[in-house]
Amino acid sequence: ACILDAPARRPRGPPPSGSGSDSDPMRGGRAGGGGTLPAPPARCIPAGAADHAPQQRRRAASDLEEEAWALLRESVVSYCGSPVGTIAACDPNDSSPLNYDQVFIRDFVPSGIAFLLKGEYDIVRNFILHTLQLQSWEKTMDCHSPGQGLMPASFKVRVVPLEGDEEGATEEVLDPDFGEAAIGRVAPVDSGLWWIILLRAYGKCSGDLSFHERIDVQTGIKLILKLCLADGFDMFPTLLVTDGSCMMDRRMGIHGHPLEIQSLFYSALLCAREMLTPEDGSADLIRALNNRLMALSFHIREYYWLDKRKLNEIYRYKTEEYSYDAVNKFNIYPDQIPPWLVEWIPPEGGYLIGNLQPAHMDFRFFSLGNLWSIVSSLATTRQSHAILDLVEAKWSDLVAEMPLKICYPALEDQEWKYITGSDPKNTPWSYHNAGSWPTLLWQLTVACIKMNRPEIAARAVEVAERRISTDKWPEYYDTKRGRFIGKQARLFQTWSIAGFLVAKLLLENPEKSRILCNNEDEEFANAFNLMADSCNPNRKRGRKAPKKTYIV
Ligand code: GLC
Repeated sequence: ACILDAPARRPRGPPPSGSGSDSDPMRGGRAGGGGTLPAPPARCIPAGAADHAPQQRRRAASDLEEEAWALLRESVVSYCGSPVGTIAACDPNDSSPLNYDQVFIRDFVPSGIAFLLKGEYDIVRNFILHTLQLQSWEKTMDCHSPGQGLMPASFKVRVVPLEGDEEGATEEVLDPDFGEAAIGRVAPVDSGLWWIILLRAYGKCSGDLSFHERIDVQTGIKLILKLCLADGFDMFPTLLVTDGSCMMDRRMGIHGHPLEIQSLFYSALLCAREMLTPEDGSADLIRALNNRLMALSFHIREYYWLDKRKLNEIYRYKTEEYSYDAVNKFNIYPDQIPPWLVEWIPPEGGYLIGNLQPAHMDFRFFSLGNLWSIVSSLATTRQSHAILDLVEAKWSDLVAEMPLKICYPALEDQEWKYITGSDPKNTPWSYHNAGSWPTLLWQLTVACIKMNRPEIAARAVEVAERRISTDKWPEYYDTKRGRFIGKQARLFQTWSIAGFLVAKLLLENPEKSRILCNNEDEEFANAFNLMADSCNPNRKRGRKAPKKTYIV
């Protein structure tokens, strides 16, 4: 039997010493655990006060990174003696960890990237291969089996008695959760998409480019693609999902075609296209993939985009248009434009809305979907800059005292009641309902670096540095300005720690962010311009026609 060496919950000791003076009066203690060893350094740099002490600030920042590394290493989970992932949170005072003691696929992505950037490839490789085995697990919920390519939301290493052994020997097994035990029984649609994105990043960073050519890995990619590209009742190229199928893994009114899933879907399709080895059987799949990419980018760029000009257009929409060339294709009633938006939309800048359905636009700003649309080139270059312009213009709403708001604004009163089902964890300006999530720093950083505007991310990292360690690396923050540690937030949340590390590492080595970015496909860009032109009465003439025909 293998020996389990990490996932057991233990009181947390501080990181190894050597990260500065122990007698520093500004140091924060850490609840629980150890006690005898020095506590990690507290970050206490008030706004504006740090400018006269750049050296001190640099040292403080490197102490912080050292602490983060120590914490990240403590969260590593081993299986049969090898590291396979990181536990979601290691909060020593948490008496009911629920499933935070598991390895979540989406949560591991920033951990994996941090390890890749540090040149530690094994944990990522092991993670990819073990989760791949879980993909083909026999999964059922109430006698129903979901599609074959599904990746679990999370898994746990369990120690079980070795079958047939009378001496009491044990063995380790991986126990996945595909949503059949998760709160709300949510299907983790994003897991497989993140898995493909991480797989590509692994190859690019480690140089192990033949890894994705393994038959089992190729089969894994294809199973995910087949599940996503399967025909359904859909009229839209966007992926149709239930509420809670991504980072917001509980009811938040994002069922349908949420932006986060679409941006990850687009990114995963591009990554998969790069990695699929050409063979006779895959021609149809690649054709379907290309068609979907084209249709998806057109749909999102054209119909999800919102800026002041577009909002004014929606405000003046005619409704009930029955025709192929309707302007208001989705029959949006202008009355649904929320009053906050009329004030909020900046004169410059814009963003992709959260969701689009017949007669429904979710006008909330969702950070992850917008940032990943930049990273994956789902948004055009102009749109990508405009999204970052908006982040800058709305800094006090989106970053404020802790980066970054998961969405803006919060659902309140009756809307909160109906949409969340009166969820007490998702009260206004908390958790998924416009709480602030430090983990989102890493996606912000990749997006800013891609657009050659790293200073925006650097500013946000500085904001986080002021208190994230003193606050014990919370999962999320509450209130409009992210002032309080979240009501039910876990402390020592691994992806808060890893997200911070990835942001720091990428700002030091911006060129490394290419392991995550997708460049605009020129052929698609051409085709897109042509299609956009054909919808525009002042169209420009003479653009090159695409070589292929795409059905949108
Ligand atoms: C919460 C988050 C989810 C995350 C999980 C583990 O449920 O909403 O995105 O994966 O915690 O950290």
